[in-house]
Amino acid sequence: MFTVKYEKLLAGRSDLFRASEVRELLKLTEGRNIISLAGGLPDPRVFPKEKLAQIAHDVIAERGDKSLQYSPTIGVTEFREELKKFLSRKGVKINSDDDVIVTTGSQQALDLIARVFIEKDDEIILELPTYLAAINAFRLSKPGMTAIPIDEDGMRTDILEQEVKRLKWLGRNIKFIYTIPVAHNPAGVTMSVERKKELLEIASKYDLVVIEDDPYSYFIYEEGIDVTPLKTLDKEGRVMYMSTFSKILSPGLRIGWVLGNQYAISVLERAKQTADLHTPTLTQYIGMEAIRRGVVEKTIEEARKIYSVKRKAMIEALDKYMVKDAWWPKPVGGFFLMVSIPSYEIDTKKMLPEAIKEGVAYVPGASFFANGMGWNTMRLNFSYPTPEEIDEGVKRLSDLIKRKLKGKTEKIMPVNLFRT
Ligand SMILES: Cc1ncc(COP(=O)(O)O)c(C=O)c1O
Repeated sequence: MFTVKYEKLLAGRSDLFRASEVRELLKLTEGRNIISLAGGLPDPRVFPKEKLAQIAHDVIAERGDKSLQYSPTIGVTEFREELKKFLSRKGVKINSDDDVIVTTGSQQALDLIARVFIEKDDEIILELPTYLAAINAFRLSKPGMTAIPIDEDGMRTDILEQEVKRLKWLGRNIKFIYTIPVAHNPAGVTMSVERKKELLEIASKYDLVVIEDDPYSYFIYEEGIDVTPLKTLDKEGRVMYMSTFSKILSPGLRIGWVLGNQYAISVLERAKQTADLHTPTLTQYIGMEAIRRGVVEKTIEEARKIYSVKRKAMIEALDKYMVKDAWWPKPVGGFFLMVSIPSYEIDTKKMLPEAIKEGVAYVPGASFFANGMGWNTMRLNFSYPTPEEIDEGVKRLSDLIKRKLKGKTEKIMPVNLFRT
């Protein structure tokens, strides 16, 4: 066949887009009879299919001239107005000098933020663990990454302050703190109000910007959990708040947004222009109508009930089957929890092919640890599988771990919960 050597043409940075082995392995599980506790997919049962079909029809039939046309990079004006009302109802504070940009999923927001703010050798601060695709998006700009451990109350702000002091002393240029304060991915924990306040105090004291990523706060399964966004507590305009329709309506629409300082948003807008001109106009109109007709709020309500049952199934299955001394913080919200296996000798990445053979898949935890650790952890998803699959999947996984741990006495006593 042809012999063009594309490898020789690649830019140096393309090396940073390496396919992850784990993703390749997980791809192999698709379509096979394997219980997946791996992805972060919503349960398709919660998609409001008929209502969205009607909305899509109406938006094209009645407003096709606009909805099928190009639209502003920052987003469709009417949709942005509707989005602001939706955010206000959710308790997200919008300052007079704030603006909102619609992005192609919130993943694009992460990518744009990286491109606009981070230069090689800048420093960014993240949670340990944190959302792996955020690490990957930021990594492309080659910053130093300082990871702050979390526990059941979210980011350890005492360690945050020590680390900020250390970085300042070293003369590092800290660009922002990235956090998923509520219903964390991967850990399912939520930052306490005290920690939120401390985080903002530290940001203020050291003049830092905070990127608040909030896809999951719509799904809280316990009473008395405070979900006030950092954006609302912030009095100095230093929080950029991002969220998405992916978990509350449909990820296929690819609609996310960032709310924050007008000037910063205008720079993200310029960066987005070269990326994709704008987020699809059609899905913005569909999203707008879905808010107006109450479909989003209704979907959230129904989805919460379904996910709450599945989360219970996962906690019960772990209690029933998982090895003694394995540890997982109870997820108060979101789609995931993270399990630490009580031995340094089990590397969950190496164990994954064996788990797949047993008919169950998960995401090895190391990818969520910006400091390269976490090899004895794994992220389990409960939003997608059925309660029966959760029970069976956790059983298969636990049996495998028990077999592997046989005869091994070594045990981890986590001091800081994720600081393995
Ligand atoms: C914490 C977090 N941020 C961002 C995203 C990206 O979501 P999307 O691009 O679908 O809006 C996800 C998706 O799982 C996520 O968990």
